[in-house]
Amino acid sequence: MRSPPRATTERGDRPMTVAVSIEGIDKRFQAFQALRSVSLDIQPGEFVALLGPSGSGKTTLLRLIAGLEQADAGRVLFGDVDTRDLSLRDRRIGFVFQHYALFKTMTVAENIAFGLRSRPRAERPDGAEIKRRVEALLELVQLPGLERRYPSQLSGGQRQRIALARALAIEPQVLLLDEPFGALDARIRKDLRAWLRDLHSRTGHTTVFVTHDQEEALELADRVAILHEGRLEQVGTPDDVYDHPATPFVCEFLGEANRLPVKIVGSQAFLDDRPVLGGLTQNQGGPAALYVRPHHLKLVDDVPLSIPGIVEELRRTGPLRRAEIAVSGLAKRLDLDLTSQVAPAIGERVRVKITHATAFATA
Ligand SMILES: Nc1ncnc2c1ncn2[C@@H]1O[C@H](COP(=O)(O)OP(=O)(O)O)[C@@H](O)[C@H]1O
Ligand SMILES: [Mg+2]
Repeated sequence: MRSPPRATTERGDRPMTVAVSIEGIDKRFQAFQALRSVSLDIQPGEFVALLGPSGSGKTTLLRLIAGLEQADAGRVLFGDVDTRDLSLRDRRIGFVFQHYALFKTMTVAENIAFGLRSRPRAERPDGAEIKRRVEALLELVQLPGLERRYPSQLSGGQRQRIALARALAIEPQVLLLDEPFGALDARIRKDLRAWLRDLHSRTGHTTVFVTHDQEEALELADRVAILHEGRLEQVGTPDDVYDHPATPFVCEFLGEANRLPVKIVGSQAFLDDRPVLGGLTQNQGGPAALYVRPHHLKLVDDVPLSIPGIVEELRRTGPLRRAEIAVSGLAKRLDLDLTSQVAPAIGERVRVKITHATAFATA
């Protein structure tokens, strides 16, 4: 379990984190509808990943929350304040973009201090206070001592950590991150995920993290919101959306799945007139597609509810071992994860049991 979101105060009783309520947002660009009736409630201090393929409307929704785009319908609230009543400055948004390079001609310290120095005089901290805050932020993003470096003297991962420090410098009430690790190598992305999760647990900002990488979203977020063609298809914890996808799109987007054409009668699914899974609830009955993740297939000895097949291929990708199993009456082979099972031999007759699946009616 992740620790519950906490509201912190830094300056007086001005809360650093707020709830964000997105209510019935429509957004068109000329004739193109980029967002359709999008509603989403984000708790104070919550870390939400906005996940979807390229073009699904993620950046548009983030820019709407930031006040950089206007909605055609609906509204965004920070706490109980309609953001249309707030100036861009009063929204206090920390924004990190994928390709938004740091200011090249400024040092790291100048980059981080930028938002503070551009405040109106009355709200601007003095030089010593800015220096202290820059140091504290470099400490926070675990890059102490880099004040005098220029962006060109940093690695890609360091640059994005400095960009995050710059976003945090203005004491944002909401942190918006648009594919901040998108341009980095896979290995560095993984390290930065753990780093960001840890940073969030220490600072507790309400955070919306945009990504098209399902692994990144599932690993980082308290809840994942899945966008598809401008619509929110499902919002839930990583376990919810992965194990109980609301739509075939969500199921396929979040990871591999075998798709079995079945007939549902009562609470049972039948493949080729053979019962293969019981205990199904919330189904209408009739023809359905049963989606089964490769690790939800087990090799078994007993016959009840198992599917007979022949091992056709064994594969290995990195640490994962897979078996492909041919089943009579099924056009596609079953893809089965062998990571925690004894590997069969090619040509072996086996029985396969479904341990978990989601059914979607097909007619
Ligand atoms: N300013 C704009 N003018 C016209 N179309 C736009 C504009 N911004 C975004 N779009 C379109 O809206 C859709 C969603 O874009 P975007 O929110 O950037 O998607 P994502 O971030 O999920 O890749 C895309 O088809 C894009 O071409
Ligand atoms: Mg985008």
